[in-house]
Amino acid sequence: MKHIFSGKRVLLCVGGGIAAYKTAEIVRRLSACGSDVQVAMTPAAREFLTPLTLQTLSRHRVAIDMFDGADEASIGHIAIADAADVVLVAPATADLIARMAQGMANDIVTAALLVTRAPVVVAPAMNSHMLSHPATVRNLEVLAGFGHRIVASDSGELACGYDGPGRLPDPETLLAEVAAALSPSDLGGVRVLVSAGPTREPLDPVRYLTNRSSGRMGYAVAAAAWRRGAEVTLVSGPTALATPRGVTRVDVETAAQMNDALRSRTAASELVVMVAAVADYRPASTASAKIKKKAGAGLTLVLEENADILAGLAKVPGSRVLVGFAAETDDVVGHAREKLTRKGLDLIVANDVTSPGAGFETETNAAVLVDRDGNQQEIGLIAKDELADRILDRAIALRGRRPRRR
Ligand code: PMT
Repeated sequence: MKHIFSGKRVLLCVGGGIAAYKTAEIVRRLSACGSDVQVAMTPAAREFLTPLTLQTLSRHRVAIDMFDGADEASIGHIAIADAADVVLVAPATADLIARMAQGMANDIVTAALLVTRAPVVVAPAMNSHMLSHPATVRNLEVLAGFGHRIVASDSGELACGYDGPGRLPDPETLLAEVAAALSPSDLGGVRVLVSAGPTREPLDPVRYLTNRSSGRMGYAVAAAAWRRGAEVTLVSGPTALATPRGVTRVDVETAAQMNDALRSRTAASELVVMVAAVADYRPASTASAKIKKKAGAGLTLVLEENADILAGLAKVPGSRVLVGFAAETDDVVGHAREKLTRKGLDLIVANDVTSPGAGFETETNAAVLVDRDGNQQEIGLIAKDELADRILDRAIALRGRRPRRR
């Protein structure tokens, strides 16, 4: 997600809870993504973690004191609040949440939070009973009412000895939430259906036909759509990837199962992005027992055609934008244009899968986007999650112009 964080100024407000030690990793990760991280700590946070740790990782003096002559010569609490593109409050303790809800400004963290107009992400972490106390529940509702993004805490063993909700979510989750806060909400409430990964077509109980798709490209599209506010369903062939945050995942194996899973969800979807590498053929029959080797004899497999899922989805009545991919090895744009027309698509992402760093299994991809009006946009090698955003930019523009009625 480097393209989202790069050059962005993140204000990390650390509250006084045991989970404060976890913020060191958050600062490290944000910095590695190219963010400029400014840390502010409450007096209580400094009881758990030394500012020097976060100063070393963020390469900025940590804001700790509203009455520090040097910092406040430049009105430090206003400066750090104004400079921020996004604010993360982690861990947000019961006390800090209460003070935020009251609009108090009695330390540098709460003062900065009152000043900033940047989006605020609040990650509560505390004892389970403190979290479920009506005062905390009410205070969190107040913060949600301010438009702050509240991240549900994780459940598990807590430092206080309880087992239940109150753990600070892992850095991966918090970064995803901050990335969402930094992203446009131009898919707010839009139902998006994405397919990803390969399909597996069984030959016998132990063998199948498949392809090299890792699922990365499709998962990146699903994650990007969620960041932009969509309700995302991801129909996935077998992959080793974790489900992206906020995404509903439906696992399938064969092309026929993928077809069923997508068909039944298309009518309710406003944007469909078909990234999956679907097998064009399947074995005509699946042996019920393992096919035995016959020494000296070859083996001929009879294959039959799978349905073209995308072409079928294009016929589902309703108004939506349909995006397909084309994995090509020659005449990339020519073949992609032919697929765009034949399958009835609004946009196709043409992939030269022979190009180094592009296509299957890589972290990066390059593509040419061709839309239904014949417009063509060439995108050089970039991270798959950045390409995902570029594809969504085009799809959203097409949706805004004239959603096609089928
Ligand atoms: O998963 P990764 O490792 O990240 O790799 C990404 C990718 C290379 C798989 C991805 O970028 C990509 O190109 N996906 C499309 C792969 C593909 O099957 O291309 P195709 O040209 O064969 O198919 C054209 C379109 O029709 C695709 O949208 C495909 O999903 C769809 N299709 C194909 C066959 C079929 N029976 N039904 C379909 O709907």
